[in-house]
Amino acid sequence: MKISVVDLDEYEKSVLEREFSQKGLKDVKFFVGKGISEVPESLSQTEVLACFVHSSVTPEILEKMPKLKMIAAMSTGYDHIDSKACKDKGIIVSNVPSYGNKTVAEYTFALILAAARKINSARDRVVRGDFNYNGLMGSELNGKTIGIIGTGRIGYQVAKIAAGFDMNIIAYDSFKNEEIVKLGGRYAGLEELLSLSDIITIHLPLNENTKHLINEKNIEKIKKGAILINTARGGIVQTRALIKGLEKGIISSAGLDVLEMEKESLENNEAMISRNSCEELKIISLNNLLIRHPKVFFTPHVAFYTKEAVQRIIEQTAANIASFIEGNPENRVI
Ligand code: NAI
Repeated sequence: MKISVVDLDEYEKSVLEREFSQKGLKDVKFFVGKGISEVPESLSQTEVLACFVHSSVTPEILEKMPKLKMIAAMSTGYDHIDSKACKDKGIIVSNVPSYGNKTVAEYTFALILAAARKINSARDRVVRGDFNYNGLMGSELNGKTIGIIGTGRIGYQVAKIAAGFDMNIIAYDSFKNEEIVKLGGRYAGLEELLSLSDIITIHLPLNENTKHLINEKNIEKIKKGAILINTARGGIVQTRALIKGLEKGIISSAGLDVLEMEKESLENNEAMISRNSCEELKIISLNNLLIRHPKVFFTPHVAFYTKEAVQRIIEQTAANIASFIEGNPENRVI
């Protein structure tokens, strides 16, 4: 089978080459540093595509790959792949369900601690040669309430770390995870969680039910001065509502690893103007405000990005592709 891997770096390529060769996968093209939209002509014979979250697999892109049979998402989330178009064309999609639960949970706490202890502002100050600590007073995590929205694999690891910090845990999820209760946590409705939590952290998938779960209506319910952390997907929080929450002082600080319309917001202006509606352009320009907002620190979707997690992603991706070729696809999500 002809395999293409897009948008990877030299390190990822070297690890993938080793894994693919161990599994006897030989007919592979690597597109180092090249996104899926940059190489459509070279993908025309591709039967299996492997890609990270930054590659949007749209119906238009799929049209360029008439022989495509399988997409191996090198991520847990697969909302960057058009599910309907894949279903219509009978293209199988696999993901990597649990390469980095602890990886993302650790990063969530990096963002929480950076916000609670104002580490970014402290650093900016010393870089300017200013060693004054007025205004840099932080707050401790012990005894504070953390609201965990989504208590699946990552949310559970966040709860374990929170318990280690002696935090009170409130959880929201459509399924109750008894392990959270064993850690001393309790489940509540979303509004109750928003109103009681000093720190709110999101660990849900993005889908039609979770889109704008935090919105202009319920942003007002958030406890004044709370910290909001989002390492899940940007679209779960309505960008306009988040900016209002920051402006009104409801949210004291936001640590974001993801943005609504993230891919489009990080694209160059020309591509952005030709492809998006007015509403989408509004979100993209609000993102410009958001990532430069003094109460926000944004990182470019790197919560998963450790040497160990990349190794696990690559091993599982190669295994997913090999199992598909053998006729027994593992980790199929579409
Ligand atoms: P998971 O599937 O283990 O857990 C998700 C939880 O959300 C489940 O407990 C589920 O019951 C709950 N849920 C789903 N829809 C819901 C709804 N409408 N209302 C209430 N609860 C709902 O997922 P996991 O592995 O914990 O990952 C969570 C998300 O984190 C992923 O979907 C992905 O988008 C994001 N992620 C981000 C990464 C990054 O680098 N920033 C890396 C890995 C994942």
